[in-house]
Amino acid sequence: MAKIAVFVGSLRKDSLNKKLAQNLESFAPDGVKFEYVNLEQPLFNGDVEADLPKSVRAMKAMVEGADAVLFVTPEYNRSIPGVLKNAIDWSTRPNNSFIGKPVAIAGATNGALGTAVAQSNLRHIVSHLGMYLMGQPELYFNFASQKLDERGVVTDENREKLNSYIDHFVEHINKLT
Ligand SMILES: Cc1cc2nc3c(=O)[nH]c(=O)nc-3n(C[C@H](O)[C@H](O)[C@H](O)COP(=O)(O)O)c2cc1C
Repeated sequence: MAKIAVFVGSLRKDSLNKKLAQNLESFAPDGVKFEYVNLEQPLFNGDVEADLPKSVRAMKAMVEGADAVLFVTPEYNRSIPGVLKNAIDWSTRPNNSFIGKPVAIAGATNGALGTAVAQSNLRHIVSHLGMYLMGQPELYFNFASQKLDERGVVTDENREKLNSYIDHFVEHINKLT
């Protein structure tokens, strides 16, 4: 059983990124479990590192117990959302919970560029964290609303892309674990 800790960089109820993550989960092979990380954390404050908030401890435990990490995130102002950066910062203090984990990055937007700049920023961060990034395939889920039906399920012509993405990620994880 491979456990993947999933960070969705949007707190919105109708988040396109949450829908993308759920669609990827639906294509995951048997034995692969998605565990959604709670990003509703207090703002990072180095003064409380010695006595971490309970929610932060739970988040770090989820990451440390996972075989891999998947980031599915929108782009905010040509970077990653603050809630995601905050969760990453907490997850690296006082110890780096991410170190050595296989990781993949994806993102959804209704725009044309498909979160490319945010994903590029995040690649820099994960390489600094000592994670093992899946370089290919990339997943820029642009014009997202056009690719999802009214229930949020990916349309037939886009299924293969998501299916192949998660298959490659599982292969990447298996090579490293
Ligand atoms: C504060 C803010 C900044 C944004 N900046 C960008 C941006 O730089 N590039 C972009 O393509 N979309 C940008 N957007 C639009 C988001 O891609 C869009 O709101 C997306 O649907 C958010 O993801 P979600 O549906 O998962 O919540 C921005 C949205 C917000 C709220």
